[in-house]
Amino acid sequence: MEKIIILDFGSQVTQVIGRRVRELNVYCEIYPFNKIPEITPEIKGVILSGSPYSVRDKNAPQIDLKKLVGNIPVLAICYGAQYIAHTFGGSVESSQTREYGRAELTIIENNERIFEGIPKTSEVWMSHGDSITQLPTNAKLIASTPNVINAAYKIEEDNIYALQFHPEVFHSAYGGEMIKNFVHLICNCSADWTTESFIESTVKSIKNELKDDKVILGLSGGVDSTVAAVLINKAIGNNLHCIFVDNGLLRKDEFTSVIEQYKNMGLNVIGVDASKKFLTALKGVTDPEEKRKAIGKTFIEVFEEQAKKITNAKWLAQGTIYPDVIESNSVKGPSATIKSHHNVGGLPEKMNLKIIEPLRSLFKDEVRKTGIALGIRKELIARHPFPGPGLGIRVLGEVTEEKLNILKEADAIYINLMKGWETTLPAASNGFSDKTQKGDKISLYDAIWQAGAIILPVKSVGVMGDERTYEYTIALRAVTSNDGMTADWVQLPYDFLAKVSNEIINKVKGVNRVCYDISSKPPATIEWE
Ligand code: XMP
Repeated sequence: MEKIIILDFGSQVTQVIGRRVRELNVYCEIYPFNKIPEITPEIKGVILSGSPYSVRDKNAPQIDLKKLVGNIPVLAICYGAQYIAHTFGGSVESSQTREYGRAELTIIENNERIFEGIPKTSEVWMSHGDSITQLPTNAKLIASTPNVINAAYKIEEDNIYALQFHPEVFHSAYGGEMIKNFVHLICNCSADWTTESFIESTVKSIKNELKDDKVILGLSGGVDSTVAAVLINKAIGNNLHCIFVDNGLLRKDEFTSVIEQYKNMGLNVIGVDASKKFLTALKGVTDPEEKRKAIGKTFIEVFEEQAKKITNAKWLAQGTIYPDVIESNSVKGPSATIKSHHNVGGLPEKMNLKIIEPLRSLFKDEVRKTGIALGIRKELIARHPFPGPGLGIRVLGEVTEEKLNILKEADAIYINLMKGWETTLPAASNGFSDKTQKGDKISLYDAIWQAGAIILPVKSVGVMGDERTYEYTIALRAVTSNDGMTADWVQLPYDFLAKVSNEIINKVKGVNRVCYDISSKPPATIEWE
């Protein structure tokens, strides 16, 4: 399969380059700069990313350009452009001409393929301290901004295109066109990487590899495990054995409704009610990390017990997706933030299982598109993220059945009202709303990245009828975000908040107060624990 390789020098936006290339229906892979793959004939071009480093730093990332240059077209972005200039005899200096933010690019060479179809002047996004003050002698200047003369250059004989600005970011008005020109015109990639082609080739390769083998997969109700299951099921049918554990920490009625949907999709799924076991493990535990450990450990025990019943299983399937793969193989080394809740500990080694991860090349939005193309209902695909430890970390302090039940009721009221409330806010980046035009009405739920209720471990005084009450407080959380790393609270409409508060206090026994969390991340986090 044709592909583009992106070499990551540690930029914050390297994944965005990958997304842009994929949007052009061209497959691409991101590698840390120090792990350049062998340049095989399927690789049609290389993109060098930006970096937080200066090429003049002693510990600046270095690559062996000989492996690439001359063999294959190269698009060098920001640090990449400076690195090429610096290595090939130009100069890069820290100067007064540093630029951050929008700049007006003027194309000097009209006939450059990289600029085909792009107006002579257009807006681009700059973010650099150093500037290229002198180009290599064999380079040709092709575009400038008022502050940065060497904004884009080309080295004809080596098929290198270098851009000081960031074409991958949204603010570069024709950046997407430039990337398109690079992959389609310069690298000659055909646009044949589509959801349908992905499904077809993946199903085929799973069939070939697994033949009549049995596979075990843990379903969580989340998007990734669901899509992975449906994809594998399409290839091997009932040889895929899914296990869905009810830890008692899911949202109200979630276990029954989701397992019903799984069965309707034709999945061979066993539901395991282990809620009592989880509550027992959580008894007396108040520290958030201890709670996570207790929940994780119990999950592994329950899962393993079930998995053992599936005799002769050879594989364990996981819903790992591309950002997890990049993260664990990144320039900075494996990150502490990587999700571990799908990872069932040492089970693969213990049971001698091989791992299969059919979504490991997909970004989250591609997983959603694949899910829709596989016929999975939108309700399952467009769900908010939900933490592995579930409501266990939204019942602050010790988790008791009483508090858990109160929270489930309050959370259900909040989320259901949110699903029924219309708004003209833009759709959340994790959502899968088909209505994305500005001004279109979508549900408040689809406009929000993540929302949920939290029960606080304090009681406060209230009055209901003629009686004094002394009951729990529910906190509501709703945030916008792109990746969960940073987040901001949503300015929910007052009349919506009023309705939610009213319904919760009137209908949920044990609650006499509702608050809304107006903290951003950082310094707060999305979850309270
Ligand atoms: P925080 O609270 O760290 O959350 O701002 C960021 C995102 O991660 C989710 N989250 C978790 N997911 N296991 C998970 O699978 C966890 O222990 C966990 N803690 C937080 C959180 O819901 C949000 O989407």
